[in-house]
Amino acid sequence: MTWMAKWSGGFPLYLDRARGNRVWDVDGHEYVDFALGDTAAMAGHSPEPTVQAIDARIAGSGGLTTMLPTADAEWVAGELHRRFGLPLWSFTLTATDANRWALRLARLATGRPKVLTFAYSYHGSVDEAFAVPGPDGVAVARAGNVGPPVPLDLTTRVAEFNDLAGVEAQLAVGDVAAVLTEPALTNIGIVLPEPGFHQGLRELATRYGALLIIDETHTFSAGAGGATGAWGLRPDMLVIGKSIGGGVPSGAYGITTDVARLLAAHPEADLVDVGGIGGTLAGNALSVAAMRATLEQVLTEQAFAGMIARATRFTAGVRGVVEGTGIPWSVAQVGARSEYRFTAPAPRTGSASAAAADEGLDEYLHLYLANRGILITPFHNMALMCPATSDEDVDLHTRLFSDAVGELVAGTTR
Ligand SMILES: Cc1ncc(COP(=O)(O)O)c(C=O)c1O
Repeated sequence: MTWMAKWSGGFPLYLDRARGNRVWDVDGHEYVDFALGDTAAMAGHSPEPTVQAIDARIAGSGGLTTMLPTADAEWVAGELHRRFGLPLWSFTLTATDANRWALRLARLATGRPKVLTFAYSYHGSVDEAFAVPGPDGVAVARAGNVGPPVPLDLTTRVAEFNDLAGVEAQLAVGDVAAVLTEPALTNIGIVLPEPGFHQGLRELATRYGALLIIDETHTFSAGAGGATGAWGLRPDMLVIGKSIGGGVPSGAYGITTDVARLLAAHPEADLVDVGGIGGTLAGNALSVAAMRATLEQVLTEQAFAGMIARATRFTAGVRGVVEGTGIPWSVAQVGARSEYRFTAPAPRTGSASAAAADEGLDEYLHLYLANRGILITPFHNMALMCPATSDEDVDLHTRLFSDAVGELVAGTTR
C-alpha cells in the first residue's frame, strides 16, 4: 500500500511477527506498539481467543465463505445490539463499505441527495466525505482528493465540528439525507465534542429530517459500547469496523426500527442483489467467527477498563511533560486512545486542528520513538492501548517523550 511507505524515516519497517502489543521487524528489533494498526489491532495482535476461532473455522469446520449465514452472525448482531442499542445489523468487510452502504440507505430512506460531514473528518474512501468548506461555506474537495466523480457541493454539505449554528444553516436547506460524523474527530488529531454538541446535533438532525449516522470505527476506544454507549448518543445508524474482527477484515452497520420502516416503504429498491448494498464476501463465516471471539472474549467491558486506565496514565504522562516544559501543545483522550497536537488549547474544529499540523515535528517524534523501541500511529501522534498494554509500556513512552521534548526545547533555545 502506498501509505505504508509514508512511515517516518523514509521507509517502512518490515514486519516479521507480532503478538499482543509487541511487534518485531525483520532486523529483529522489538517495538512496543501503540499504533496497533491505526485501531484495527485494538484487540492486540493475534489475541488467543480470536486465533482459536479462526483456526476452528479454517482448519476445523471449514467454509470460509459460502453465501450462508452462521450462528455466529446472529450472536454478533445480538451483541452489537446490546452494546450500541441499535437492533438491526448488516455486515461488511471494511468501515468504508459500511459507511458507503449506510449513506445509500439514508438517501433511500429520506429521498434526499446529500450528506453533511465535518471539515477534516475521515470516514474511509467515501467519495462524499472528502469535503472542506470553500468560499461561502460551500463544500469543496479537500486538498489531495483523488479523482472526485463530481464536484463535492453536488453530494455534500459541510460544517465545522462543534459549530451547531453552522450545522443548522446547512440542514435548513432541506436536502440532507444524513449527518455523518465520528463522536469525536479522530483523524485530524483528536477534536473532542464540547458539552451539548451531540445533543444539539441530534435535535437538529431530527428537526430538519436528516438521519444521524455515527461512525464508531475509531471511537470504539471509548468503551465496550463505543462513545455511543459511554456518552449516551442516539444515532439512527451506526458504523463500525477495523478492530471488531481482531484483525480479520470485518465491519458492520446498524439501523433503528424506524429507519427499517422507512426502507421497507421502498419495495422497488433492490436491497439484496445488484442495488448497490452489499459485497460478495461481506458477512463471511470467517469474519463473523473472528468478530464473535473478539467481542465475546477480548474487547470486553473488563478489558476496556484496563485499556482506558492505561490511556489515562499515558495522557497524564504527556500532559506532565507538556506542562513541565511549557511548550504550547495539547493532549486529548477518547477512552483507550490518546493523542497530542502541536497547539494549545486543544483545537475545537477540524480546520483549527489541521492548521496545527507539523510534518517536521511528526517526523522527529516518530523517528525518535521508533529508534528507541516505540511505535505510534503514522501520519499523526495517536497512541492506542490494547488489553496487553502495561503501565511499564506507558511509562517507557512518557520517559522517551520527555527526552525527545527536552532535546527539542534545548535545541531551539540554544
Ligand atoms: C472513522 C473512520 N471511519 C472509517 C474508516 C475506514 O476504515 P477502513 O479503511 O478500514 O475501511 C476509518 C479509517 O481510518 C476511520 O478512521
